[in-house]
Amino acid sequence: MPQPRHRIPGPAEIVEEWRRRSARPGLTSVMRASQPVELAAGVTEETRRLVGDHLRATSSLLGRPVSSAVEIGCGIGRITPTIAKHAEHVLALDLTEEMIAQARAACVDLPNVEFLQRPAQRLPIGGQRVDVAVCVWVLMHVLDDALLAAACQGIARSARYLSLVEYEHAAVPVGPFSRLRSIGQYLALLPGSELVECRELGYGGDRSFAALIALDRS
Ligand SMILES: C[S@@+](CC[C@H](N)C(=O)[O-])C[C@H]1O[C@@H](n2cnc3c(N)ncnc32)[C@H](O)[C@@H]1O
Repeated sequence: MPQPRHRIPGPAEIVEEWRRRSARPGLTSVMRASQPVELAAGVTEETRRLVGDHLRATSSLLGRPVSSAVEIGCGIGRITPTIAKHAEHVLALDLTEEMIAQARAACVDLPNVEFLQRPAQRLPIGGQRVDVAVCVWVLMHVLDDALLAAACQGIARSARYLSLVEYEHAAVPVGPFSRLRSIGQYLALLPGSELVECRELGYGGDRSFAALIALDRS
């Protein structure tokens, strides 16, 4: 996938960038600041609907309610309440405490959500697989290919299913903190996985895929 040529920022710069973005107003902390506010609100509704569909499908595939979910890169908790509605317990992770503080506030009435500061590349947590991992616009911000491979390996060992939403095309070129990758590139990093379903999510000329993936159970 053609990418603008940027120097890859180092780990400290990446953390600093997400701390800085966490101070932006409303949804612009976690969505493109170049897009209109109403569009961001509409796309948020659509994303919640898609993730809800994935969690309902996961429950059908498991043949029982979803008992445990991990959200990777929860940001300000834009999607977390949707996950909490469909899973008995949610562990929500993010790279920075600043994002987590806002997500905690968004989920203050949800006793089934716990938070932990942890990067995607430091999974799994504990020995047991959760039913589903949810990852919305996070792996596109793991810039280094080796770290992305580590994150995918950790996810595959952490969960039975993965609800993955990531950018694959941007009308306004992305900056140095994002990488556009296709669903095929992610599947290649999740050996033994199977695509259950994949839909498109449009955002003012930008396009993401929203995929439910069955992870390797061996
Ligand atoms: C675009 S925001 C999306 C947040 C949330 N998933 C949503 O859809 O609203 C990306 C989030 O991923 C977090 N993040 C970036 N790199 C990460 C990493 N390596 N591991 C975990 N979280 C990361 C950022 O702090 C930020 O909260």
